[in-house]
Amino acid sequence: MTERPANGDGNDSLSAVSSTVYLKTFYRILGKIRLAILARTRYVAIYRKYKSFTMIPRRLYIANLELVERFSEIRGSIAECGTWKGGMIAGIAHLMGKERTYFLFDSFQGLPPAQEIDGPAALRWQAKTDVPTYYNNCLASEQDARSAMSLAGVDATIEKGWFKDTLPRAQLRDGIAILRMDADWYDSTMEILNNLFGHVRQGGVIIIDDYYTWDGCSKAVHDFLSHNKRAERINAHKGVCFIVKA
Ligand SMILES: C[S@@+](CC[C@H](N)C(=O)[O-])C[C@H]1O[C@@H](n2cnc3c(N)ncnc32)[C@H](O)[C@@H]1O
Repeated sequence: MTERPANGDGNDSLSAVSSTVYLKTFYRILGKIRLAILARTRYVAIYRKYKSFTMIPRRLYIANLELVERFSEIRGSIAECGTWKGGMIAGIAHLMGKERTYFLFDSFQGLPPAQEIDGPAALRWQAKTDVPTYYNNCLASEQDARSAMSLAGVDATIEKGWFKDTLPRAQLRDGIAILRMDADWYDSTMEILNNLFGHVRQGGVIIIDDYYTWDGCSKAVHDFLSHNKRAERINAHKGVCFIVKA
């Protein structure tokens, strides 16, 4: 027969150890929750500051900020192609700080006409001009984007014009750490990838805003990766599509 340990023996010290482990785990989880709440509060404040300069809804705007912060270790510039009034890139600049260089590319003449390859939904959207989500065919002024960036307190290079003219001559000497593509259509997305993919640093991120919205955008991404025999995977973070440059 096994003798029971006397009171205050092995069992007590075992339970003391496990209470310490529980307490440590509890405080670790509490710490993580606190950090998550602080980060969330910060993202919400950034959204509130720039929301009048963006058409991206709050949930996705915050997901973009979370995603960008994950890549803060990658050196290089930050570029957005398809900025409209500049509210998303200004929020990213707010988060990533003055040490980076920021590039904004936009026609500031609205979207070019959608083509058949962009799909029936895109053609319908562009034909229906009397709904609030038409945003005057996504027309914004360069001054809007400039105001958004100065609100973020950073210097930015704003390249006004069609991508086919501005992207080939872009001076991206530092390489790109974060490239945000938000230009809706097949041709526009393909022009960005053809001109800027080579500038994105290894481990850098390419955010594809319209991947789940417009057929033309997803087709351009697939065609580009396939044509160039690239093995990058398509990932998503809370509804935001991205690829990491291999
Ligand atoms: C949906 S809006 C961008 C939204 C913006 N990122 C935000 O934070 O709300 C798309 C923008 O892409 C621009 N764009 C699309 N195709 C373009 C092209 N080929 N060249 C230049 N700008 C283009 C349009 O002018 C428009 O401002």
